[in-house]
Amino acid sequence: MSQIALTENDDVIEYLEAHENKGLLRFITCGSVDDGKSTLIGRLLYDSKLLYDDQLAALESDTKKHGTQGEKIDFALLVDGLAAEREQGITIDVAYRFFSTEKRKFIVADTPGHEQYTRNMATGASTADLAIILIDARRGVLTQTRRHSYIVSLLGIRHVIVAVNKMDLVDYSEKTFRDIEAEYRAFAEPLGFDTIAALPLSALEGDNMIAKSSRTPWHDGAALLPYLETVDVRADLADKPFRMPVQWVNRPNLDFRGFSGTVASGTLKPGDEIVVVPSAKRSKVKSIVTMDGDLEEAAPDMAVTVTLEDEIDISRGDVICAGKAPAEQTDQFAAHVLWMSEDKLYPGRQYLLKTANRIVSATATELKHKVNVNTLEHMSGKTLELNEVAFCNFSLSAPIAFDPYKENQRTGSFILIDKRTNATIGAGLIDFSLRRAQNVHWQDLDINKTARAAAKHQRPCVLWFTGLSGSGKSTVANLVEKRLHDLGRHTYTLDGDNVRHGLNNDLGFTNEDRVENIRRVAETAKLMADAGLIVCVSFISPFQSERRMARDLMDDGEFVEVFISTPLEVCEQRDIKGLYGKARRGEIKNFTGIDSPYEAPQAAEIDVDTSNIAATDAADRVVEFLRERGYLEG
Ligand code: ADX
Repeated sequence: MSQIALTENDDVIEYLEAHENKGLLRFITCGSVDDGKSTLIGRLLYDSKLLYDDQLAALESDTKKHGTQGEKIDFALLVDGLAAEREQGITIDVAYRFFSTEKRKFIVADTPGHEQYTRNMATGASTADLAIILIDARRGVLTQTRRHSYIVSLLGIRHVIVAVNKMDLVDYSEKTFRDIEAEYRAFAEPLGFDTIAALPLSALEGDNMIAKSSRTPWHDGAALLPYLETVDVRADLADKPFRMPVQWVNRPNLDFRGFSGTVASGTLKPGDEIVVVPSAKRSKVKSIVTMDGDLEEAAPDMAVTVTLEDEIDISRGDVICAGKAPAEQTDQFAAHVLWMSEDKLYPGRQYLLKTANRIVSATATELKHKVNVNTLEHMSGKTLELNEVAFCNFSLSAPIAFDPYKENQRTGSFILIDKRTNATIGAGLIDFSLRRAQNVHWQDLDINKTARAAAKHQRPCVLWFTGLSGSGKSTVANLVEKRLHDLGRHTYTLDGDNVRHGLNNDLGFTNEDRVENIRRVAETAKLMADAGLIVCVSFISPFQSERRMARDLMDDGEFVEVFISTPLEVCEQRDIKGLYGKARRGEIKNFTGIDSPYEAPQAAEIDVDTSNIAATDAADRVVEFLRERGYLEG
């Protein structure tokens, strides 16, 4: 029997592989310290004698010093002590505690219980087979209970233990327990768990923890530890169709070519037919190679190298699938998303989307509805805030191979990453591919951008003017277009105020509307560049994310950012349209620079401040830049 605390820095998987990988149960405890979470884990370890002697001695002496339980051992100190240790590691959000009994090995993912830490909980839950949902018998089913259960179900955990704790404080009342159990079961019905076991516990007193308690004779189920030792959660990953994302193509010499990766689901034998997604190329398995020799069969979680009968092209990121049941492929799908960031999700904004095998750019094109995790009701909404869940349509920059999440957790889930900070900001589960993705194809046209640009004898580009209202964007853009026109160039100017009269007349000035405003304009500018034009775009475009999205949308070197950096004081003093005055008087809301942010560019190609130089000189600077960089040749 042993117990060890692992941090995220330790490779839990490797640790386990070093041990026998049989009979392992991964579980997560959901609840707060107030619900007795630490005491529950502490008691489990203590009573099943899973602690080292020195830990026990330390616990007993700590109890005397800091304990809150009188003469009784304060189990919470054990777990919180480990928590304090892990806090020294600064960024560790989830601690994995490993212990074993004669029957089974266990990994508990221990996560901070506060509401704002849903993200940590989701991290812990993503690898768990079972969740213990802790309920304080005195308080019953709370919002937090519902939220945790919903997230647990969203992440594909099929088995739940409802641990009704602190039964000692309700005199071991059967009625209290049954009421809570009934309420929970009614709530959880639509979540579709495979098993729900409700247990009346007192972690503090040890009731129904290791053995059944005489104080709850009416309880007909098992005690917690025996239940954990026997509950059947055998993942059916091996029964699902074979999937292996290719991590690298192994080609040490001309005679050997193998495809290496970790099996996500299913099994594979020599002779099996496979199909590669997305190329749809087919072949048969020649051999399955590992460090320890060839295998008769590869199963989930094994790292293997597959060789094939035929020479077919496979690259990193492709997925090798069972010949009879290939993964789907799509660049547009509907998914449930759990948002984990303080910065809201805005439809139209670009994020990085990472699946088992690929990283692509992605935007939520439409937020269909939010889910009230308390009632599971649908609510309308335009953006998504921290800890909210929504059903959204997504559009990707390139197709991915996937399975619907309910068919395969491994190939049906993704995370969203902030492009700027690289932080994980969302977790998603793919529901289905949008039919549109299958029916709308890119049409290659014979006359392309090069041909159109050549006919105009010019090099297309997008001059993106950004800056505060009244900074002089439109004035400078207008002068630049006039100069280019005089030079015989073919141009067009997209101006915020004008476009908002037509194409974007349905949009206001909330953050989400501005994101959509810029997305549409960037797409329009791209079409115009594709038509071979030199395009001036003059929009406040206050967010870095969307300006970056516009830059990424254009071909290399085609996007020229012109920051009109005239300071706010000057713009406000000019107040040509009288809008600053209105904003200061509170007559218009969300005015950029007053009560709505402007994120200044960090690396614009050109930076001009019209309080220092005349608009005509600013325009000359822009035209000069274009000339120097060869944009005006041809
Ligand atoms: S953006 O932020 O979405 O890029 P856009 O450039 O289209 O803004 O529109 C800005 C113009 O709309 C301003 O020049 C101003 O004339 C007008 N306007 C009206 N209300 C606002 C507001 N709340 N904030 C900024 N500009 C506003």
